[in-house]
Amino acid sequence: MTDISFDGQVAIVTGAGGGLGRTYALELARRGAAVVVNDLGGTVAGVGDDSSAAQRVVDEVRAAGGEAVPSYDSVSTPEGGAAIVGAALDSFGRVDVVINNAGILRDRTFAKLEWADLDAVLDVHLKGAFYVSQPAFRAMKEGGYGRFVFTASNAGVFGNFGQANYGAAKSGLVGLSNVLAIEGAKSGIASNVIMPVARTRMTEEILGPLAGALDPDQVTPMVVFLASRACELTHEVFSAAGGRYSRVFTGLTRGWYAGDRPASAEDVADHLGEIEDRDGYIVPTSVADELQQLLPLLRRSGAVSTS
Ligand code: NAI
Repeated sequence: MTDISFDGQVAIVTGAGGGLGRTYALELARRGAAVVVNDLGGTVAGVGDDSSAAQRVVDEVRAAGGEAVPSYDSVSTPEGGAAIVGAALDSFGRVDVVINNAGILRDRTFAKLEWADLDAVLDVHLKGAFYVSQPAFRAMKEGGYGRFVFTASNAGVFGNFGQANYGAAKSGLVGLSNVLAIEGAKSGIASNVIMPVARTRMTEEILGPLAGALDPDQVTPMVVFLASRACELTHEVFSAAGGRYSRVFTGLTRGWYAGDRPASAEDVADHLGEIEDRDGYIVPTSVADELQQLLPLLRRSGAVSTS
């Protein structure tokens, strides 16, 4: 494959003052992108702010001969999102790539979860991605090109003890990406999701003995590919961890069709084997794909006309 270049392109990376986001910003800049390095610079729990985080990464990019500007705005307000995209448009005149990466943790078991910790986590991960992505999406539509990468987590998509707020926010991002993929398709906009696993300040204690093997730089190639012109995939989710790159998908089984008679709860219990059988499942890319799967069954039973 020819080298992947970002020459002439402009990328926004949120939460790029450290951890995974820093590696994305450095690699995109090394490959020619002008980068907005956004970071509020607070703690893992999202307390405080510190402009030195974003500034340090901007200095690193420039020292390596790349082009970058800092942004210290929080993703968690509409004004912050607009200012982050504004920094790209004011400094570089366009936006081609948005990597929604900023994140915090407020882990509590569900029984003990306080609403302030729900709000803080939803505001940064889920609403923050809306606030940054909408102004960027509008600019990309005008330019007829764009690449979004949203950062989900195995904690949400697969589930993890003590992370109800974080898991719900992260799974919500899959829904947002899927809709952007559909709405952006005719404007050359692709949207995909990364589920990283890597040693950062957020995870080094949680990962324990695995931490040493899970370098953030091993996530970077997947994210940089998804952010590039070379990526024609959209509406997909990928896991990257310790040098293993996988696709994660939501499948719909062929299921059990009750026919033209109403099913009872007992019927459902009796047919669980067919409902759960993975043979012949599909991976829908829109609501239409599910309806396409259903339609022949409805036609066969006469529930809808064949004409
Ligand atoms: P990190 O804590 O090093 O990076 C997160 C960055 O986001 C920090 O630099 C922080 O200052 C910034 N940030 C937080 N709130 C912000 C706000 N309101 N506005 C702008 N910036 C803000 O942690 P890490 O691991 O690099 O996390 C990056 C992303 O990857 C996060 O979304 C995280 O949830 C996600 N993730 C990480 C995993 C891992 O194994 N490290 C696993 C699954 C997901």
